[in-house]
Amino acid sequence: MITNIEWTGDSLKIIDQTELPGQLKLIELNDSGQLHEAIQKLRIRGAPALGVAAAFGLFLGLKNKKPPTREAFLTEADTIASYLSSARPTAVNLQWALQEILDRLSEFEGEPADLLQQVLEQAKNLQNDDKLRCQKISQNGSELVEKGMTILTHCNTGALATAGMGTALGIIFAAAEQGKKIKVLVDETRPLLQGARLTMWELDQQKIPATLIWDNMAAFAMQRKMIDMVLVGADRITAIGDVANKIGTYNLAVLAHYHQLPFYVAAPLSSFDYSLMSGDQIPIEERDPQEITRIWNRLDISVPQAKVWNPAFDVTPAKFISGIITEEGIIFPPFEKSIKQLNYPKFHNQEELNL
Ligand code: MRU
Repeated sequence: MITNIEWTGDSLKIIDQTELPGQLKLIELNDSGQLHEAIQKLRIRGAPALGVAAAFGLFLGLKNKKPPTREAFLTEADTIASYLSSARPTAVNLQWALQEILDRLSEFEGEPADLLQQVLEQAKNLQNDDKLRCQKISQNGSELVEKGMTILTHCNTGALATAGMGTALGIIFAAAEQGKKIKVLVDETRPLLQGARLTMWELDQQKIPATLIWDNMAAFAMQRKMIDMVLVGADRITAIGDVANKIGTYNLAVLAHYHQLPFYVAAPLSSFDYSLMSGDQIPIEERDPQEITRIWNRLDISVPQAKVWNPAFDVTPAKFISGIITEEGIIFPPFEKSIKQLNYPKFHNQEELNL
């Protein structure tokens, strides 16, 4: 399995996902500004990966600023965390990871140098923590997968989207590893083609049979009985189980409901936002119109002045979701009850991580 995020000792090395599948290009990020740019441009993406990357971004920002006192350090940490959070609004993992570190810092007594060391330790913990959560999600979800099934997935939820083996795609990897001989249908995922470029690349690396379809084909594939299950990730899940995920996910949920197919969401507890009830409250990122008027920033496919609406995510109401696969197990409707029983996702300490 590839490693998507690597701490080199003084910089963060990531795969520049905008270059895949053409080339596997590694880039090093040395300050919070570069992290912000990499997140906005989707060089790094996927909800859990954003949280981990932002944590290292906080360290890099503070290391470069060198605030002289504890008070100045905490103020600067707040400023950098807000700046990094603003890079993308929908995936709650980004804010969750930064807030977890800020909370721990406020409890930690010490000089700026000790605080800085703490931020780095917490970023490393967070990375290991996500790896562990991915393993558990993959294992739990694989129990739902039967031999010979064909699974439809959307966007990219694998090693490129997390610090571990992935969530929805991690389940597919785990089921394949168990010898279940599954097949995967991959939505291309317009407009930025995370399915075509990234999920197909990861499945190819793992030698798992996969067929690429374009987004509008799912209905036909379901009508032809080519799909047994839909499995997707999440960017934010509310307290009642509404799920924000890559635009096009809601379509799949409605289609799965109509065709009486199971529709599962896989996500770590760090993707739950207990402060929101309805999915209507989730901030939905709107991106550059050129992502739609051009294909992958290379070819014009509309008039340059075309009026465009380009939300990066949609919200699937809980009523269309068969179950949510987490590291603590699979939860089922009614989600307002089952979500309450989950533990708030404090990340583990290094000693608790037995990887
Ligand atoms: O815009 P992206 O590529 O960051 O969107 C990613 C998704 O929608 C994923 O499904 C989600 O973040 C879960 S990743 C495990």
